[in-house]
Amino acid sequence: MNNLGQKVIYQIYPKSFYDSNGDGVGDIPGIIQKLDYIKKLNVDMIWFNPFFVSPQNDNGYDIADYYKIDPRFGTMADFEELVKKLKEINVGVMLDMVLNHCSTENIWFKKALAGDEKYRKFFYLRKAKPDGSLPNNWQSKFGGPAWAKFGDTDYYYLHLYDPTQADLDWHNPEVRKELFKVINFWRSKGVHGFRFDVINVTGKAEKLIDSTDPVEEKSLYTDTPVVHKYLKEMNAATFGQDPDSVTVGEMSSTTIPNSIEYSKPSEHELSMVFTFHHLKVDYKDGQKWTKTPFDFMKLKKLFTEWQEKMDQGGGWNALFWNNHDQPWALNRFGDTGKYREKSAEMLATATHLMRGTPYIYMGEEIGMMDPHYSSMKNYVDVEAKNAYQELLQEGKSQEEAFEIVKTKARDNSRVPMHWNDEKYAGFSQVKPWLMPTDQDKINVENELTHGEIFDYYQKLIKLRKSEKLISDGHIKMFLKDDPQIFAYARYLDDSDHKLLVFTNFYGEGCCAELPKEYQNKKYKVLISNYDEQSDKLDALISLKPYEVLAVVID
Ligand code: GLC
Repeated sequence: MNNLGQKVIYQIYPKSFYDSNGDGVGDIPGIIQKLDYIKKLNVDMIWFNPFFVSPQNDNGYDIADYYKIDPRFGTMADFEELVKKLKEINVGVMLDMVLNHCSTENIWFKKALAGDEKYRKFFYLRKAKPDGSLPNNWQSKFGGPAWAKFGDTDYYYLHLYDPTQADLDWHNPEVRKELFKVINFWRSKGVHGFRFDVINVTGKAEKLIDSTDPVEEKSLYTDTPVVHKYLKEMNAATFGQDPDSVTVGEMSSTTIPNSIEYSKPSEHELSMVFTFHHLKVDYKDGQKWTKTPFDFMKLKKLFTEWQEKMDQGGGWNALFWNNHDQPWALNRFGDTGKYREKSAEMLATATHLMRGTPYIYMGEEIGMMDPHYSSMKNYVDVEAKNAYQELLQEGKSQEEAFEIVKTKARDNSRVPMHWNDEKYAGFSQVKPWLMPTDQDKINVENELTHGEIFDYYQKLIKLRKSEKLISDGHIKMFLKDDPQIFAYARYLDDSDHKLLVFTNFYGEGCCAELPKEYQNKKYKVLISNYDEQSDKLDALISLKPYEVLAVVID
């Protein structure tokens, strides 16, 4: 399994990492200039969000040419240099494969529009119903109907995302063959890692029937049995031939049994899965575009279920709080004031010591937070703009709608990396595509000279490589009913040692009675974000605000 448990993956959103050519947009040469910084973290692989040719209607998730680097990010020579330079420091490349849909600017779609039969079969083209209404009632995940008019024909094409992202029909073997060719092209460039965008919605139901409700609607195109077949086929035809490959599937609204099958080595599908249930605990009634505090008990329950059952079933999870689609975890689950550093360290520990492979989203290691924007004009994401309009239509006032967008917009985490305290955060010499806001306090320069979060991440990464309990251990949660502490034990089959992890998710101290088996034990501290005094666990454990304590007992 090529030591999956020892690996830590860093995510770079190229558009926002470092602008080397003064156009306000990050680029590949910019990433190369910052490799010394990345080296300090000692991560194993970097996942890059898409930098292929794209009209950027969904920031690169609308690919017009799978084989070319978009000129705004650099050239193929730049990419090759990046791979080479990363290899020198022992860091692998993970590319983002957006294979569920392509841009309507893609040659496949253009040929289809021009009437080429072969390429018409690449897409879901359907006629309107006899009454003239759309082929079915499915909704796009970015708002509005999931169908758009196919040129000036009688047909509509399916788009589960933006109208400029046309869903590819995976039922057609020709489509799969073309997509596998894309993967092999990048493999031939020395790429061993692949992240597969929304891969579990590639197996739409054979008949695209109307849904009766939103939940049933998802089931018509999510996690259908045929997805497993496609993944096995993709594995065999591409990265499965590479013993060093590391793959992760982004799984929209998935289940534990499916995730086990997607990621269990003997199934030959993927190395691991991104799942999102734990990031919906601050959705009111399951709705994203709402504003409500997170439900801690629900979060614990979800972590418990997913971690324990994936362990029992032999599946493997990607561990993460942040990515380019999520507002910053510090704003959602931590503290943005007095305890910014402590809560950042607590959150990092909670996931890094669990069973799976941790991902760090650029800027997380310096404690970045949501920007302070004052108007909708500051946002660029199509999803945020559509959501704002829908909220107004639902009757929310402009202020209410804006408050919600502020907490939920994906632009929050897409803000350029804060390198220093300059006007544009040292990211660019010109006005960047999204403006930074807190760089006077939170930036790499400050963090490396007198912060504690970056240091703490370095320790967590190092621990994962040296402690078998972390990389290989089973997991079991305890203190399940405690309203403030999230705690778990990691253990190996062939040893009596146990790693106990305690995290206090709140800004007040707390105390809990330990399970009998852990009481009055001598321990060795593996990591903690406060200075520890005692060397024995009593019957009680007490934790300071956002304290985390990870100890090994016999
Ligand atoms: C994934 C990506 C997201 C994108 C969507 C459609 O969820 O992470 O950024 O908008 O897929 O490709």
